[in-house]
Parts: sequence; structure tokens; C-alpha cells
Amino acid sequence: MTKLAVGAILAVALVAASPPGIIYIDPLSYNVVGANYTKWRNSSIIGFNPTSSPPPFIQVYDPSFLDATGPSPTIREIASNPGFVFAHEAPIYVPDLNLVFFANTGGGALSYSGWYNNSVVSMINMTLVDEALARTTGNVNIQVQTLNLSDDVQMVNGGTGPYKGDLLFVTAGRALLPPSIVRVNPSPPYNTTVILDNFLGRQFNSLNDIKILPGTDIMFFTDPAYGWYSGFRPEPMLPSQVYRFDPSTGQVRVVADQFVHPNGIAFTPDGKTAYVTDTGVFGGILGTNQTLPATIYQFDVEPTTQSFMNRRVFVYSDSGAPDGIQLDTNGNVYVSCGGGTHVWNDEGTLIGKIHLNTTTAQLVFTKSGLVLLAETAMYVVNIQARGMTLATL
Ligand SMILES: *[C@@H]1O[C@H](CO)[C@@H](O)[C@H](O)[C@H]1NC(C)=O
Ligand SMILES: *[C@@H]1O[C@H](CO)[C@@H](O)[C@H](O)[C@H]1NC(C)=O
Ligand SMILES: *[C@@H]1O[C@H](CO)[C@@H](O)[C@H](O)[C@H]1NC(C)=O
Ligand SMILES: *[C@@H]1O[C@H](CO)[C@@H](O)[C@H](O)[C@H]1NC(C)=O
Ligand SMILES: *[C@@H]1O[C@H](CO)[C@@H](O)[C@H](O)[C@H]1NC(C)=O
Ligand SMILES: *[C@@H]1O[C@H](CO)[C@@H](O)[C@H](O)[C@H]1NC(C)=O
Ligand SMILES: *[C@@H]1O[C@H](CO)[C@@H](O)[C@H](O)[C@H]1NC(C)=O
Ligand SMILES: *[C@@H]1O[C@H](CO)[C@@H](O)[C@H](O)[C@H]1NC(C)=O
Repeated sequence: MTKLAVGAILAVALVAASPPGIIYIDPLSYNVVGANYTKWRNSSIIGFNPTSSPPPFIQVYDPSFLDATGPSPTIREIASNPGFVFAHEAPIYVPDLNLVFFANTGGGALSYSGWYNNSVVSMINMTLVDEALARTTGNVNIQVQTLNLSDDVQMVNGGTGPYKGDLLFVTAGRALLPPSIVRVNPSPPYNTTVILDNFLGRQFNSLNDIKILPGTDIMFFTDPAYGWYSGFRPEPMLPSQVYRFDPSTGQVRVVADQFVHPNGIAFTPDGKTAYVTDTGVFGGILGTNQTLPATIYQFDVEPTTQSFMNRRVFVYSDSGAPDGIQLDTNGNVYVSCGGGTHVWNDEGTLIGKIHLNTTTAQLVFTKSGLVLLAETAMYVVNIQARGMTLATL
């Protein structure tokens, strides 16, 4: 039987008996909507929800997504604070402690006025989350705990790890305090060590996200000018580009450029392919410009120089902008976009979405499932897929 025929049979079966919480959206049903369609989306902020189903739920665009979700996925809120953007960026899962660390990126009220405050880094105890979820079928609200990090840590915007047992954060800097890469002890006293804060004497613009190339200790990070566009950093004095830092030699170099706002970064498990998201559509104080990229680019990692070669469009996101990016062990690409999390397979086929109807800026795989940072709330999505980083630990 052809792959197409198998797909068609699966699709029919899926329509007949979608598991609860799963909505099958056959792209063929929406190829032509007609001029009288009443649900045109003229704003990229609004997610695609043609069935008007109440969020949260899972959209399946290709039956293969069921291999990732498993038969009975759940989406449950685990923490909430409607008045405060506490969960925005930099999720790092530490399996040994079963903790997720994350930052609010200088949040406060839902306005730019609060962005001059330093970011608040918090942690949530996933053991407490698991225990609470086991006691109910609904949502829970676990108290997150704020860390009190040194003043070296200004505007945490991205993170990965554990790196040699530590959290590895990138900071965007604040006013004249420089953006940096900083190691943070995930246990008391949460002491910090800055390992990079300049490019041969020049300050970076505002570091945004970081990943380690699998199988190495080498760090790759993005440096858009969001600090300037958000009003908390001086005018950018470098292109918005992607850097490579080898902490054993101290060498810093550029591996990719030609972005509007390079943002999330990820590698395939074999380290041969890199992904960089461009959130050009969101211009901070410049507002939204829907003619600019909401695009994920794919590159080959050059084996010797580790420069990013052969840039090509991987996908363009139909809503919001692709921010945080994580891969599962099968190479599926999970990205925080408008309306929730979008999932593409390694061929760039949109296979599904976790539709919350709100922005999720970041996400991280944990033993409890996929944890989503949705600004004023956190969710855990219990699916069968396992995160790439967990698998290699
Ligand atoms: C769209 O609406 C107009 C005005 O009501 C109607 O004349 C036209 O037939 C409709 N078109 C379709 C394809 O339904
Ligand atoms: C966009 O859609 C909304 C709701 O349908 C409508 O109120 C608004 O006028 C539209 N804007 C443009 C520029 O078409
Ligand atoms: C989705 O969010 C928008 C904007 O907040 C809201 O107007 C709309 O009612 C929501 N849709 C659903 C189905 O909850
Ligand atoms: C920023 O911090 C100041 C001082 O702690 C506080 O008064 C203010 O409310 C904060 N701003 C926001 C938007 O949270
Ligand atoms: C997390 O919660 C569990 C269960 O109460 C507790 O045993 C553990 O010490 C907590 N972890 C941390 C780091 O506080
Ligand atoms: C950080 O300081 C606050 C306020 O003093 C305190 O409530 C909190 O427990 C501290 N966090 C940690 C992890 O010690
Ligand atoms: C924290 O302090 C301990 C004890 O001095 C040191 O061994 C460790 O390297 C420090 N970690 C960081 C991330 O600064
Ligand atoms: C949007 O971006 C395009 C491409 O850079 C630019 O030509 C246009 O002026 C921008 N529009 C607005 C409203 O800023």
C-alpha cells in the first residue's frame, strides 16, 4: 500500500474516532473557502481554529502526529498568575532535580513600561506538579519559587542545559550592563559565573537564545536587537547575527547572518543540521509588520568551521512568530508560535499544533511531558514523544 493510501485510511479512521481533545484538520478541507468565508485572519496574531473549538486542544494536520501524541494526550495548566508575565523565556529542565527554571524577561504588567525592570528567574518543582496532577483530572496551580541571582544576570532571555551540571543562560543586558552568557548553579546558593560578555571588546546587542552543538561543548547563540526595540538597551552596534563560542579556547565567531531578528536556535540530534528562527514580524516598539519573516531557516553545519551553510527556508509560521524551538527524538520540530505550539516533521510538513489560543513563547521537554511557557500561565502537555536532550542524558 502506498504511504498516501495509508494516510487516507488513517485520516478516515481519525475523523470517525478522534481521541478526546484532538481535532483533525484535513488541509484538503480548507484549500478553498470561498469569497464569503467569515473567518479570514487578517492578523497573524490570531491562531487558525477553523472549527472554533474551545481551547486548549490538539490539532492534527497529518495523521502521523498521532505517533508523537500517543492515544491519550492531555494539556493541563500547572501554574497561573493572570496579572504577571512570569513565564516567558529560557526554560531549562534539570532532570536530576526534576526542576524547570525559566525567566519572565523583565516582565511585570502586560505593557512595555515594565520592561525596564530586571528579569525574574523562577523555578517550578515538577515532582510537586506530578503529585498534584495525580490527585485531580483538572488543572493545578503550583507555586513557583523565584531565585535571587547576582546583579551580573540582567534580562535573562534564553537558556539551555544542564551544561556541566549548571544552567546556561544568555542575558540581553540592560542599559549599559552588557549582554552575556552566564553559568548558574541550579542548587543553593544559586551562584553565578559569567563566561562571555563581549565580542573582542564590543558589546553584543541583546542575546536571545542558546544551544550546545550535540556531542560538543561548543555554544551557539543568537543576538537580535530586541533590547533596543524594547527600550532597555542602547542602539545596536552589531548586525543581528548568530555566533559560535568555544569556551575551551575563548574564540568567538559569526556563523550566520542576514536575519531581521534571529531568535530561537536548535540542532538535530546528529548535529549536522541547524535551525534558526527569525521573529522579524515582531518589532518591539515598532509594532507588528506582517510582511517581515515569521520564518524558520535550516542550515547544514559545516563539519570543520561549524559555519551555518546552505541556508534555506524550513517553514513559515501562519500565526505569531516562531520563538523557542525544541526537537523530539524523531526529529520533529516543536516551535512556540501564535496560538500555541506548532509541530513540523523533519521534512517541513505541518503535522500538528497544540492550540491554546494564546502565545507560548517557549517550551521544554521534561519527564512529565512538554512544558509550555504561556506568559501568565504554564502548561504540561502529556504526549508520547520524548525530547532530544532528555534522550541523550
Ligand atoms: C456570496 O455572497 C453573495 C452575497 O450574498 C452571493 O450573491 C454569492 O452567491 C455568495 N457566493 C457564494 C460562493 O456562496
Ligand atoms: C480585520 O478583521 C477584523 C475582524 O474581522 C475587522 O474588524 C477589521 O476591519 C479587519 N481589518 C482589515 C485591515 O481588513
Ligand atoms: C481566542 O482569543 C481571542 C483573542 O484573545 C478571543 O477573542 C477569542 O474569543 C478566543 N477564541 C476562543 C475560541 O476561545
Ligand atoms: C518595576 O519595579 C518597580 C520597583 O520594584 C515597581 O515599583 C514597578 O511596579 C515595576 N514595574 C512593573 C511594571 O512591574
Ligand atoms: C521538590 O518537591 C519534592 C516533593 O515535595 C521534594 O522532595 C524535593 O525536595 C523538592 N525539590 C526541591 C529542589 O525543592
Ligand atoms: C528569594 O528571595 C525571596 C524574597 O526574599 C524569597 O521569598 C525566596 O524564597 C528566595 N528564593 C530562594 C530560592 O531562596
Ligand atoms: C558555585 O560555587 C562553587 C563553590 O565555590 C563552585 O565550585 C562552582 O563552580 C560555582 N558555580 C557557578 C556556576 O558559579
Ligand atoms: C514593513 O516592512 C517592510 C519591509 O521591510 C517595509 O517596506 C515597510 O515599510 C514596513 N511597514 C511598516 C508599516 O512599517
